Amino acid sequence: MDDKIQGRIRALLKQKDAILLAHNYQPPEIQDVADFCGDSLELSIRAAETDADVLVFCGVHFMAETAAILSPRKTVLLPRPDAGCPMADMVTPEALRTRIEELPGVPVVTYVNSTAAVKALSTICCTSANAVAVVNSLGAEEVLMVPDRNLARNTAAQTDKKVHLWEGCCPFHDILTPEMVAQAKAAHPGALFLAHPECLPEVVAMADAAVSTSGMIRFARNSTHRSFLVGTEVGMRYPLQKACPDKEFIMVSERMHCDDMKKISLEDVLQCLEEMRGEVRVPEDIRVPALKAVERMIAVTAG
Ligand code: 13P
Ligand code: SF4
Repeated sequence: MDDKIQGRIRALLKQKDAILLAHNYQPPEIQDVADFCGDSLELSIRAAETDADVLVFCGVHFMAETAAILSPRKTVLLPRPDAGCPMADMVTPEALRTRIEELPGVPVVTYVNSTAAVKALSTICCTSANAVAVVNSLGAEEVLMVPDRNLARNTAAQTDKKVHLWEGCCPFHDILTPEMVAQAKAAHPGALFLAHPECLPEVVAMADAAVSTSGMIRFARNSTHRSFLVGTEVGMRYPLQKACPDKEFIMVSERMHCDDMKKISLEDVLQCLEEMRGEVRVPEDIRVPALKAVERMIAVTAG
């Protein structure tokens, strides 16, 4: 059944000069039909570089919005417009404006997991793959990082700059405790522990690597170890196992399950392509300043 729908999706993608981008947390059948799977940074770069007329984005709203910011002349479709990110909703433009007034002259480093309107108020964006490089690229001695306090604290541990926090977090990464990791380590001695930088700093301190989702795939591929404990959203099991079929991946907590990342089905993708529905647009007065912040980030990564 999946094969049949996947075939129809591939045919429609060709017919409409479209490409399908999927985040590493997406369901397996979506990853299998995608042209490209990756972390937030890789997906932004792909969205900026592609010649395709249409981008079908399988992820959550802020990811499709970032693609629309980068490619205003392309049609960006999100098969389920209600797929959001609870962390992105933890900072509003109004609240950020107030904080900026309290910290005059302090650059704002905004995680891509944020709305376009929040990006528009920011100096530069970052992802989990480049947060330290982005903060270090700035001349200022102090920065404000929004909205993820865990990413901010984990970044602060790797830079000399003073980092002001915002009280947001990913509700799924935040539930992983050092006790849960210690238990998993005791049950699987010899396994390396991979954590996502959205985890608590106490958890990241226990990790052999704290990297983005694609960073985890690269780390596992290049490692001589065969067994890994994984501290991130449960969808990561599939791309890790696909990349390293002879290695073992144990999710530390099955409760790290992001419902929004699992909303899109193959049927949604098919319908969205057939009817060209679910378009994500960003008004120009927000897109132009947001683009500056995203482009600055990409320049740091490219440089
Ligand atoms: P990365 O894939 O950029 O590491 O981000 C994880 C995430 O939370 C996306 O929602
Ligand atoms: Fe947002 Fe967390 Fe879901 Fe990623 S896993 S989309 S950060 S809620």
